[in-house]
Amino acid sequence: LNYNVNRERRYILQVLFNGLRRLEYRGYDSAGISIDDSSSFSADLEAPQSSSSSLSGLSPSLVFRQEGNIESLVKSVYQEVAESEINLEESYSVHAGIAHTRWATHGEPAPRNSHPQTSGPGNEFLVVHNGVVTNYEVLKETLVRHGFTFESETDTEVIPKLAKFVFDKANEEGDQTVTFSQVVLEVMRHLEGAYALIFKSRHYPNELIACKRGSPLLLGVKEFTEDLSNGSAFHDDVFVSKNGQPKELFLSSDANAVVEHTKKVLVIEDGEVVHLKDGGVSILKFDKDKGKHGASLPRVASIQRALSILEMEVEQINKGKYEHYMQKEIHEQPESLTTTMRGRLIRGGSCKAKTVLLGGLKDHLKTIRRSRRIVFIGCGTSYNAALAARPILEELSGIPVTMEIASDLLDRQGPIYREDTAVFVSQSGETADTLNALEYALENGALCVGITNTVGSAIARNTHCGVHINAGCEIGVASTKAYTSQIVVMAMLAIAIGADAISNQERREAIIDGLFDLPNKVREVLKLDQEMKDLAKLLIAEQSLLMFGRGYNYATALEAALKVKEVALMHSEGILAGEMKHGPLALVDENLPILVIATRDGCFSKQQSVIQQLHARKGRLVVMCSKGDAASVSVGGSSRVFEVPQVEDCLQPVVNIVPLQLLAYHLTVLRGFNVDQPRNLAKSVTTE
Ligand code: G6P
Repeated sequence: LNYNVNRERRYILQVLFNGLRRLEYRGYDSAGISIDDSSSFSADLEAPQSSSSSLSGLSPSLVFRQEGNIESLVKSVYQEVAESEINLEESYSVHAGIAHTRWATHGEPAPRNSHPQTSGPGNEFLVVHNGVVTNYEVLKETLVRHGFTFESETDTEVIPKLAKFVFDKANEEGDQTVTFSQVVLEVMRHLEGAYALIFKSRHYPNELIACKRGSPLLLGVKEFTEDLSNGSAFHDDVFVSKNGQPKELFLSSDANAVVEHTKKVLVIEDGEVVHLKDGGVSILKFDKDKGKHGASLPRVASIQRALSILEMEVEQINKGKYEHYMQKEIHEQPESLTTTMRGRLIRGGSCKAKTVLLGGLKDHLKTIRRSRRIVFIGCGTSYNAALAARPILEELSGIPVTMEIASDLLDRQGPIYREDTAVFVSQSGETADTLNALEYALENGALCVGITNTVGSAIARNTHCGVHINAGCEIGVASTKAYTSQIVVMAMLAIAIGADAISNQERREAIIDGLFDLPNKVREVLKLDQEMKDLAKLLIAEQSLLMFGRGYNYATALEAALKVKEVALMHSEGILAGEMKHGPLALVDENLPILVIATRDGCFSKQQSVIQQLHARKGRLVVMCSKGDAASVSVGGSSRVFEVPQVEDCLQPVVNIVPLQLLAYHLTVLRGFNVDQPRNLAKSVTTE
């Protein structure tokens, strides 16, 4: 967005495209963009000109939509520009543009289903949407009865059409002064589900409205002035720098798209409506259910809040010397783990005990210690991380720890009690299932703790307390560095909860020593890169790969299999070795490759016996063991063995997953698949 800055159309396009590139990891099946058109070229490349006379004289909008990734959109826009009369050098002092990258929920990836969705011919109202409108069918029926025709299969299309309906109705009733925010507030009153929306309208040139419920949204403010003395807060519900300095304003679902322009942001909260108009910002609070004069009337109040400063750096979201984000994120784990632990491990003086400090939990530790149960709740990799930490939490806290996949907890409406501590683990802090489970746990009165990588995320904001894992921005869709940082945070959580017990002090201190040394051990295990590439070459054409683990490393088996499945698109299954005889053994033959995790811990001898039994059935084995153990895990010289450094048992999953992440990475590259954008998957699953 550009306000009061003289910029040409080319610049505006570039800013929007770059923003989309930064968001592409969140959705990459289609994309779209809309900017103003004041040239003689047709406003509506996809729709015929509106017959509505009310449009005459109003600046139309150019809309481009394209299936595929951002680069296909970029290419098609420049191609259309080249073939048209659109002048990219034309400059604007005020301009409002919108863009969107889509991850299909309703309707296949296709231009007609891409955003911006439109109110119809003439593009009177345009909307980009992140989320799902759950009552769209009812709204659609009503709008169809009023003569609207729908072009897409999306839930989103009802929104711009509803906006046009509201606008037309106000005009028919003689209200020529209906404002853009009044139109949007009325639209919001009818919407159910989750959304972050941006509205653009030719009836309100140089204005944009954004609003949200459930899905994330932030506002970034960039001023072209050094004098920020009084400019960084909201005054009288309008943010304008005192001297009217030019500025650019950004609205985005993600800080990634904004950070290269500005670090000054405002995290928009549920029910807030942001109105950008002629360089000013005003924010209203919309409260659907708490109307002063009855349930149906929204309560609207203006909001004033200080801007906050983003702590991320642009370099964090670049690939640097690596070819892929996943590769970069695997290799930066020594650093991300160091950041996760920074300031949180206290080694103490000669007489002082070693301990852990988790600032975000300090006022709640007593309550957690008194809880009847700790319930871990998450999805995908975050669930696996919690599973890896479960044994140490049980051991050090003495409290029963149960595991819940968020969607399953909700499907069952499983019991959650006031005496429970519910720990929500989520890299993004936005996963819809986890968020819904959080709402459910809050309703049931549990103490809710968040463990997330995203400051200001919904989970961070809506839990009672929590810990940020500080792993830095993770862009590869398959989670890697967040996984290891999550485990470390949960190990620290176990130490913090158990800190009042003298009996396990030695154990706690040994783990703290292990944590201090962990980044070095991860650095060491990363040297297996070439060996994992060689292994990947051997496995490249396999149909399936089994991963056997147990104890601390059951989670490692699940997570390694998830990585192989997600990115290498190869069937892989993590198997609890203790269950081998209860089914999986039937699959074992001389063809199916099986990876067995047999590093040193309390289960080592049991894993040795698993290896023997698999070997007896001619299993094709690859064994991961601790340094120096190769001989004790090789059977008849037939298996392939690789060694990893040994660490404290509860931290071993952090070391063990690293070569398996590398294996998944190399398998993917060798098989020719897209590492960072695996088929059908999205990084942040913000819909159920
Ligand atoms: C998606 C991602 C996974 C992630 C899961 C949970 O499925 O592709 O990588 O583990 O969501 O995400 P969260 O942000 O809650 O950790």
